[in-house]
Amino acid sequence: MESIDIEKIKQDDKDYVLHSWAKQKQVNPKTITKAKGIFFWDDENKKYYDMCSQLVYLNVGHAHPKLLEEFKHIGEIPISAPGFATASKAELARKIIDVAPSNMAKVFFANGGADSNDHAVKIARMATGRYKIFSRYRSYHGATFGAGNLSGESRRFTVEPGLPGFIKFDVPYLYREVIDFENEEAATKFYLDRLRNQMLYEGPETIAAVFMEPIPGSNGVLIPPKGYLEGVRKLCDEFGILMICDEVMTGFGRTGKMFAVDHFDFEPDMMTFAKGVTCGYSPLGGVIVSEKVAKYFDDHVLMTGLTYSGHTVSTQIGCATLDIYKDENLIEHAEEVGKVLASRLEELRGYDSVGDVRHIGLFAAVELVKDKTTKEPIIAYGMDYGKDKVGLMSKFVGLLSKLGFYTYSHESSVIIAPPLVITEQELNESMDLFEQALTLFEKEILFADQAVKS
Ligand SMILES: Cc1ncc(COP(=O)(O)O)c(C=O)c1O
Repeated sequence: MESIDIEKIKQDDKDYVLHSWAKQKQVNPKTITKAKGIFFWDDENKKYYDMCSQLVYLNVGHAHPKLLEEFKHIGEIPISAPGFATASKAELARKIIDVAPSNMAKVFFANGGADSNDHAVKIARMATGRYKIFSRYRSYHGATFGAGNLSGESRRFTVEPGLPGFIKFDVPYLYREVIDFENEEAATKFYLDRLRNQMLYEGPETIAAVFMEPIPGSNGVLIPPKGYLEGVRKLCDEFGILMICDEVMTGFGRTGKMFAVDHFDFEPDMMTFAKGVTCGYSPLGGVIVSEKVAKYFDDHVLMTGLTYSGHTVSTQIGCATLDIYKDENLIEHAEEVGKVLASRLEELRGYDSVGDVRHIGLFAAVELVKDKTTKEPIIAYGMDYGKDKVGLMSKFVGLLSKLGFYTYSHESSVIIAPPLVITEQELNESMDLFEQALTLFEKEILFADQAVKS
C-alpha cells in the first residue's frame, strides 16, 4: 500500500469485503492506524485500551519489536510443502511439547482454531475406530463445518441439520443453574452423573471423544466446579473415550498458566491450539497428541493433511512468539496482574446491573442483568448477531468504546482479556473506564426510566 487513504480503504471495504457474523449494512468498521502494546489508535486518532486482545489472540501486544524484527528474516528459510522437514516447524513442535502436559508427544499443524478442531475429530475417529463425538452446549469451537457441529451455541445453527454422531451435553454454568447446589462438589457430582448416563444411553463403545473448552471462553468464561474436569477424565478412561481440550482461546498464558488444563489435576489425550501460538502475527493452529495417540499413527496412515500444514512463515513466527513468553516471563506476569483484575472485578458485584463476574488470570467475563434478583439477562439466548444491534448490550459496549475501552460481548457477558503485557497501572486505568461506563449505563440507559433510584 503506497500511502494510507482512509476514505478509500473504508469505501473499498464497504464495496468489496464481506464481514463475519454481521448484516453487511450494519457494518461500519474503524481502521487501526497505529498500535503499540495494549493500545491502538483509530482513524480519528482516538486511543483505545485493547481489552480483548483483538479476538483474544494478541497476548504479546501490538507491534511487539521482537516479532517485527523476526519478519525481517522471513524468507531466509525456504518455503516448503508439509512433506519436508523445516527448521521452524521442527523447532516449534519441540517447543510446544516442552510446555505441554507431560503425556503429550507430537504436533499436527493446521491454519487456525476451527480447522485444528476438525483435524482433532478426524484423528480421534481414526485412533479409536469409533464415530460419535460429545461436546457441550455453550461452547464455541469454530465456524468450519466440523467445528460448527462441535459448537454448542447459536453460531452453529447455520450448519444444521448437523452431522450424525455429534452429541451435545450440558456445561456447568452455575450462575444460571436452576438447582441451588450446596457446594461445587455437589454441582460436579450432578453434572458428571448426567454425563455418565448420557454416555450409557449413546453406547460408550460408539464414542470416540469428548471435546471441550476446559474453560468456555466466548460463552462467558465459565469456570468449571471443583473436580469436574478430573471427573470427565475418569469417565473417558472408564469407557476408552479420548478427552480433547480446545485450548484455542485459553492456551499460551491467557489464564495465568501456559494452558488452562495446567490449573487442574488431569491430562487430556489431545489439545488443540491457535491464537496465542503466534498471537495472530501469522495464522497458525494445531493439534497436540499424547504419546499413546501418536504411537497409533506409527503404523497407521494419518489420513488428513493441509497444503499449509507447518507453514514456514507461521512456524517461524511461532518460535519467536514462544521465546517472548519465556524471555519476558509473560505467563507469570499474567498470573500476577490477573490478581489485580480479579480484585477490580469482584468490586463490580456492588453494581445493580452486574449479575456475576468470572475470572482466571487475564481471562474474564462480566455478566450483566436487568434485575439482580430475577437474573433476567440483558439479552436472551441466541439474540446476538445482528438482532441486537440497537439493543442494550450493544449500547453498553458502545459506551465502553466511546470511553476508549475496546472489547466485545456475547449474549449478556462482556469479555475482558487484555494483552498479557498489560501493566498493573494500565489495568487499573482501564477498569476505571469500565466502571465509568457501568455508571453511565445504569443511570442513562438501563434504569433511566426508574425515576431517581435512591
Ligand atoms: C475455543 C475456540 N475454539 C476455536 C475457535 C475458532 O478459531 P478460528 O477462528 O481461528 O477458526 C475459537 C475462536 O474464537 C475459540 O475461541
